[in-house]
Amino acid sequence: MGMRLEGRTALITGAAGGIGSATALAYAREGADLCLSDYADTGSIAAEVEKLGRRVVEVDADVTDRDQVHAMVATALDAFGRIDILATIAGVQSLGGAENLDEAEWDRVIDINLKGTWLCCQAVIPAMREQKYGRIITIGSNVVAIGGNSRPWLDRDEQLGSANVAYGSSKAGVHAITLYLAKELAADGITVNSVAPGPVATAMVKKVRPGVLASIPVGRLGKPEEIADAALYLAGELTGYMTGGILDINGGRNIA
Ligand SMILES: NC(=O)c1ccc[n+]([C@@H]2O[C@H](COP(=O)([O-])OP(=O)(O)OC[C@H]3O[C@@H](n4cnc5c(N)ncnc54)[C@H](O)[C@@H]3O)[C@@H](O)[C@H]2O)c1
Repeated sequence: MGMRLEGRTALITGAAGGIGSATALAYAREGADLCLSDYADTGSIAAEVEKLGRRVVEVDADVTDRDQVHAMVATALDAFGRIDILATIAGVQSLGGAENLDEAEWDRVIDINLKGTWLCCQAVIPAMREQKYGRIITIGSNVVAIGGNSRPWLDRDEQLGSANVAYGSSKAGVHAITLYLAKELAADGITVNSVAPGPVATAMVKKVRPGVLASIPVGRLGKPEEIADAALYLAGELTGYMTGGILDINGGRNIA
């Protein structure tokens, strides 16, 4: 069997982060050329991708800035002539209780996680429609399905170290974008799916409270590679009949 993404090109946002870099390497190992985007440095990931024999370009872009997002897409198209796969992985965490969440923090989180995802998806649509092919993978979250990852009725302080309502709302919006675009783009051979991870061991999850760990039936955090593997599955050619899906990778946290 050949490599699953041979001849394909992928644009990955948040490529400097834990899940983004794992996804970049998973795609590169399967033969894809990559455009790595982040507002943090992607140099070390790019070097690893090159070692695998793939072509790579890096773009310093803030996903909340429409002009930078369009420049990012133009760079990828200039380099490779097409974008087969878009993985929108850039995102930020936000912790604490709803009562103390200030408006500026709400705006920051919604701007990056929700608007940022939207701007990136919108910017690749014309090229994907013209190709009559595309795979869009967004990153939602398990907190959408379970109403946050804390149990404040057992331990009020647990919410202080848990993803807050701005984060959950931004990811609920990402799930909605996924469903809407899946319908709108299906006729042109473009699938749109989301991975909804439970807690994953990356820089984003600095401290895990015992209550959060206790809520994961498999008894551990996810590994970035386990999320990357789901993003690889959704990027492949064999998933043409899957669109508008939210793929739960959460160690069993959705089980009531
Ligand atoms: N780690 C988890 O437990 C977990 C769970 C569910 C969902 N997620 C989601 O997975 C994605 C990746 O998270 P991660 O765990 O790898 O975290 P991470 O902090 O390691 O990576 C996030 C990356 O996004 C980049 N980024 C943030 N804001 C940006 C902006 N405005 N423009 C461009 N780049 C920006 C950061 O520089 C960073 O490299 C995020 O969307 C996150 O919400 C993570």
